[in-house]
Amino acid sequence: MNRALGVCYYPEHWPEEMWPADAAEMVAAGISWVRIGEFAWSRIGSEPGVFAFDWLDRAIEVLSSAGLKIVLGTPTCTPPRWMLERFPDMLAVDAQGHTRGFGSRRHYCFSHAGYRAASGKIAEVLGDRYGRDARIHAWQIDNEYGCHDTILSYSDAARDAFRTWLTERYKSIDALNEAWGNVFWSMEYRSFDEIDLPNLTVTQPNPSHELAFRRFSSDQVVAYHEVQVAALRARSDAPLIHNYMGRVLDFDHFKVGASIDIASWDSYPIGFLSDRLEGTAEHKARYLQQGDPDMQAFHHDLYRAVGRDGRWWVMEQQPGPVNWAPHNPAPLPGMVRLWSWEAFAHGAEVVSYFRWRQAPFAQEQMHAGLKRPDNAPAAGLAEAAQVGREIAEMPDIAMQQAPVALIFDYPSEWAWATLPQGEGFSYFRLMLDAYRALRRCGFSIDIVPSTTSDLSAYALVLAPGMATMPETLRYALAGTVALVGPRSNTVTDELRIPTPMGPALPGLDVTATRVESLPPYVARAVLGGGAVQHWVEDLEGSAEALIEAETGEPVLMGDGQMHYLGAWPNAELWERIVHGLAKEAGLPAQNLPEGLRLRDTATHRFAFNYGPEPVEFQGKMIAAADVAWWSI
Ligand code: GAL
Repeated sequence: MNRALGVCYYPEHWPEEMWPADAAEMVAAGISWVRIGEFAWSRIGSEPGVFAFDWLDRAIEVLSSAGLKIVLGTPTCTPPRWMLERFPDMLAVDAQGHTRGFGSRRHYCFSHAGYRAASGKIAEVLGDRYGRDARIHAWQIDNEYGCHDTILSYSDAARDAFRTWLTERYKSIDALNEAWGNVFWSMEYRSFDEIDLPNLTVTQPNPSHELAFRRFSSDQVVAYHEVQVAALRARSDAPLIHNYMGRVLDFDHFKVGASIDIASWDSYPIGFLSDRLEGTAEHKARYLQQGDPDMQAFHHDLYRAVGRDGRWWVMEQQPGPVNWAPHNPAPLPGMVRLWSWEAFAHGAEVVSYFRWRQAPFAQEQMHAGLKRPDNAPAAGLAEAAQVGREIAEMPDIAMQQAPVALIFDYPSEWAWATLPQGEGFSYFRLMLDAYRALRRCGFSIDIVPSTTSDLSAYALVLAPGMATMPETLRYALAGTVALVGPRSNTVTDELRIPTPMGPALPGLDVTATRVESLPPYVARAVLGGGAVQHWVEDLEGSAEALIEAETGEPVLMGDGQMHYLGAWPNAELWERIVHGLAKEAGLPAQNLPEGLRLRDTATHRFAFNYGPEPVEFQGKMIAAADVAWWSI
């Protein structure tokens, strides 16, 4: 497997005289890929139908003649101001009914037909000009679908498209009324034209209505994306990429990924810890300058699953303090290198830093680059260059299938966001807790989509929180040591309680008959160590109770290889459960030192020390923020 470094560059932000030296310095730092163009629409087309490619041609020539491979972005996440004159109603509308204005980015509604066509058109224009240009080695379509909370739009365009989508799904209004249970509170409709979007209701809208809207919204992203895919496929053989984000879950990435070649994502470990992760103050203080030890690896494994044939990149890697989180500390020395190596260890082909030079203007002027605004090197550059030297020297790393799989399912996130039942119930959080427990026990993990029908290659599979489990998945799980739950297969795909009640697992007589959600200051102890929190189910059935609460209720039930977990474990209990399952699966589980994480490939074992103190592991002292590896 080839590994390479890249960087995000904005030639339109800098005087042309700087480009050659920038390109030469990138190459000197061991960088071989450069991504350009994804926000440059106002410079490519200053008026409708008027194009200016001379500057972009020259930038491509300068970068490529220095030896850099170019990823060219379609600029559709930043439609220029004139686009609003053509399509005044293209802006997205938030749940409060406010139109989201011009003056930043991502100001479009995925359902607007005119803007969707204009996006396809600019992709065609770029494809016509550069599609067969050998200097363009890959394309990035748009930029971070869903960033800044932009998937759900309550516009008129979305409402009209939603009605069409509903008509196709339910065929008759009676079928929709029945499926949603609209007899409740006299919500029955007489025609699809009467159905509005599920916002601005007096109290909670019907969850079936809301889940349908979330499904529709995800489908709109896919449909929007496909227009650009078609435009570029017809004009270029270069691979197509999208750069996804961390913990952006409002659309099904597997569906977007199905039509493109490479999944990439934008990894901002310190920004994420501050901005979008639960955790105690102690945890956040400990990892303040490193990022959460599992968040990056989780997304690496997720996007390896999203990418075709496992192909994935980090398109944007944090190089220093960012600007957008509530607080923006600097990485500990060593972390830029550690993050880069962690991505390679999980199979990334390219790690590309965001951005080359810090911009001295506009929204991101406080966001570090590899170079400072005055063009002096910033702290991240030397670490990137070190990685550049190391990957040049490193023999090939080959990936292998992990022993453990974790099933990931975007619609479950939407289901539980629609019907949380307890504040803070988050599918993603549950998944990250499960993933963390597996990693604390030393496992490498494959994330697998819920559409799989074959899990026979895995010794152990976890499927927590999956709202509705297709029969194919339930039977695939039955062939391995499996853990399902909590809150799994307990609703239909219309978000109703099924009868008989779930989880309906093959070979396991367990029914979850009632749930309680608990406030964050409550933890209920279980016999043998650990506790349950947030979510507790009453379990009935003849399966054996393997773990019980101190008050006697079953927490984990099992029969043969299948297990159902009826509560949300704390970290100690999660690790206990993983140790027990690993034993059954014949897998060796470890107790890693705090902050240390492993990744096993076919050729190397990697160890990453996210902690602020050195640790000794397998005969090596690994400094804080350092990485070690062993050949296997
Ligand atoms: C990403 C985005 C980049 C830049 C970066 C800053 O979300 O794709 O354009 O804004 O964040 O951290």
